[in-house]
Amino acid sequence: MRIMSRSRWLILAVSLCLLVFSDGRELKIRHKSDHPLYNHTLATILVEYASAVYISDLTELFTWTCSRCDGWTKGFEVIELVVDVQHCLQGFVGMAKNLNAIVIAFRGTQETSIQNWIDDLFWKQLDAHYPEVPDAMVHSGFYYAYHNTTIRPAIIDAVKRAKEVYGDIGIMVTGHSMGGAIASFCGLDLTLKYKSQNVQVMTFGQPRLGNAAFASYYSKLVPNTIRVTNGHDIVPHLPPYYYYFPQKTYHHFAREVWLHSIEFGSLVYKVETVCDGSGEDPTCSRSVHGNSITDHLAYYGVNMGCDASSSCRIVNDPRLLGYGNRDSTGNLILSRDPATPLLKLNTEFDHRVEGMVHALMNASVLC
Ligand SMILES: *[C@@H]1O[C@H](CO)[C@@H](O)[C@H](O)[C@H]1NC(C)=O
Ligand SMILES: *[C@@H]1O[C@H](CO)[C@@H](O)[C@H](O)[C@H]1NC(C)=O
Ligand SMILES: *[C@@H]1O[C@H](CO)[C@@H](O)[C@H](O)[C@H]1NC(C)=O
Repeated sequence: MRIMSRSRWLILAVSLCLLVFSDGRELKIRHKSDHPLYNHTLATILVEYASAVYISDLTELFTWTCSRCDGWTKGFEVIELVVDVQHCLQGFVGMAKNLNAIVIAFRGTQETSIQNWIDDLFWKQLDAHYPEVPDAMVHSGFYYAYHNTTIRPAIIDAVKRAKEVYGDIGIMVTGHSMGGAIASFCGLDLTLKYKSQNVQVMTFGQPRLGNAAFASYYSKLVPNTIRVTNGHDIVPHLPPYYYYFPQKTYHHFAREVWLHSIEFGSLVYKVETVCDGSGEDPTCSRSVHGNSITDHLAYYGVNMGCDASSSCRIVNDPRLLGYGNRDSTGNLILSRDPATPLLKLNTEFDHRVEGMVHALMNASVLC
């Protein structure tokens, strides 16, 4: 009885301390390393871009008027929107004036098939050599999603055009889930291409991409990388990490930031743990079972899935034709000159291309 009440007092005392230091809602425990790279505010901004790129209405996305195109991202100017219909990939490049940076975001897998996608991830082999480094192996699906689709040339071209207008400003690359995997390959590619130190990558719930040799190469080239994981999100646990087979296993790169909750009785605190530099900190998300899809679909309270109820349809508007370009396989690239930001959609409808409209409307493809 006495012991019971003493431990209750202890919990209460600890809780009160936490309340005092946490302005009543949120507590941040910096742990192991007080890392200068992680910026909570920036994370809550970039997560909104990683969420918005799921929007299937391309008109709303291109004109930045979608339901998720608000809040911290208000005023964002899309320079390029690319949809690889064949591989069901979507990404954009634009200028975020408030960050004074070019922001690039990639969509992840659509919600309807996420369970299948996760099931497949258990068995993904390290089946491609990363060309720059002798021992580096990666998962070919993620590698080719960036390197062998419409995505790469479109993104590189848009970044080049943006740099011509805005100069050598920072580039922030983001994405959720598979979009995080593509964002990582993109960040690495841009670093190699521009030999610049101003590429920053922040991903949310991304899977593992490659082996330890790849991870250390990646970290050397793109040190300014934050890989946010959330609670029991299953995806960062995949493809699996095999502690006893260091030569054969997938291995995350640093730096993980693990969002989770700690409970004191009925009180729940949100914690953001900045993890160690190994990429596989056993005290971060690896300390729990990855068994949640729900935790995968919400980061910082932001919805990270598709907007339409059942599918990632591509919806667009004939008025976008003036900006549009489709290749022979149906992939779609919408671009505009970053130097002329004002988009006058209503006046730019071109009747001469009306015949093409129906074909383009047929881009309402179910990926
Ligand atoms: C964190 O990021 C925000 C948004 O980019 C910026 O305004 C702020 O200065 C940054 N804080 C630190 C400590 O760098
Ligand atoms: C790369 O893309 C081409 C054209 O889509 C395709 O034929 C080829 O199989 C792809 N290569 C790999 C390794 O996926
Ligand atoms: C649109 O797609 C449907 C089904 O693939 C096809 O039957 C129809 O002819 C297409 N319309 C145009 C204008 O391409």
